[in-house]
Amino acid sequence: MPSLRELYPIPDIDPCWTVPQDFEAAFDWNYDDGRKQMMHLYQKGKDMQWDALDRIDWDLAIHEENPMEMPDESMGIFHTPIWQKMSNKEKAEFRRHAQSWMMSQFMQGEQAALICAAKIVQQVPDLDAKFYASTQVMDEARHVEAYKKYLSKLGVAYPMTKPLQTLVDQALRDSRWDMTYLAMQVVIEGLALAAFGNIRDMAKNPLAQQLNAYVMEDESRHVAFGRVTLKEYYPHLTQAERDEREEFLVEACYLMRDRFEARELYQHLGLPVDQVVEAQENSEFQRHFKSMLFQRIVPIVRDVGLWSDKIQAAYTDMGVIGFADVDYEQLSENDNKRAAEFDDINKQKRQGYVEEVAALGASGGVAAE
Ligand SMILES: [Fe+2]
Ligand SMILES: [Fe+2]
Repeated sequence: MPSLRELYPIPDIDPCWTVPQDFEAAFDWNYDDGRKQMMHLYQKGKDMQWDALDRIDWDLAIHEENPMEMPDESMGIFHTPIWQKMSNKEKAEFRRHAQSWMMSQFMQGEQAALICAAKIVQQVPDLDAKFYASTQVMDEARHVEAYKKYLSKLGVAYPMTKPLQTLVDQALRDSRWDMTYLAMQVVIEGLALAAFGNIRDMAKNPLAQQLNAYVMEDESRHVAFGRVTLKEYYPHLTQAERDEREEFLVEACYLMRDRFEARELYQHLGLPVDQVVEAQENSEFQRHFKSMLFQRIVPIVRDVGLWSDKIQAAYTDMGVIGFADVDYEQLSENDNKRAAEFDDINKQKRQGYVEEVAALGASGGVAAE
């Protein structure tokens, strides 16, 4: 398998990225029983580990002209003359690159989550939260592994896009542990859950569906971890300190809504970048998709108590305030249910395969091979 860096179509990408750190690693010498809710999450984190190599059916093929079999209407340029003028071969190339750009951002975000969770293990004061965060570290390593394997199958990968890099940099550089939670467990993982869900529910390709369904099962727990921790912590801060968190949240949400564009992808494909970005902005589907991205973030922000008039005004301006009442517990239950459905499909397929081999063996077919 080639290293993914060899698959980047953009030249001169640095082989590594470093973010300076300045924080205190905290030991908890109480060794108490831990908070009930946190220990419950930790138990779930241990019980629900899975291995991408055997849970995902990697034999499933990707579609040649549309790897994830997403509807063309989901692309902002679909209704434009740019798309209409493309040959079938160019359209296939665009789909492959656009889908690989998105899956690459998932993979790059997963590595960021791995590193943020490791920072939380060191920094968060309570041992029960360290326990849980350590299960998240392992979850994120498995997610990086799974998306890397998927991108190798696609044969194209993209580096982390700049707006995401800006947010990850803030999550890591900030010396306050709760800011890492806020940027990662609330904003980035909240967005990721919605984006994974979009693929799980719209893609027709079974490999893309199940990969995202399995990762979502874990991500729901990660977002719950952020919610449980911050809900308990924020009432202890001063109003001025909470205001600062809200300002950060508003800025981060606008950044991800307005600047999370695949400019480097359009540039690589030789397309008129500004025109394509404009088409994305004017596309009904894309506008709906961008607002749906906040479906998981807004109810959590309200629940952790960062809910002043200012933040509500910002979410109203973004047209996402209606998500405040979303029942995230139910969404999370549905995430688990969907993952279990894919387990059933894979189990049936394996069972069918075992029976086929046994039948071949009985008829002498296996021995003859
Ligand atoms: Fe993850
Ligand atoms: Fe995560």
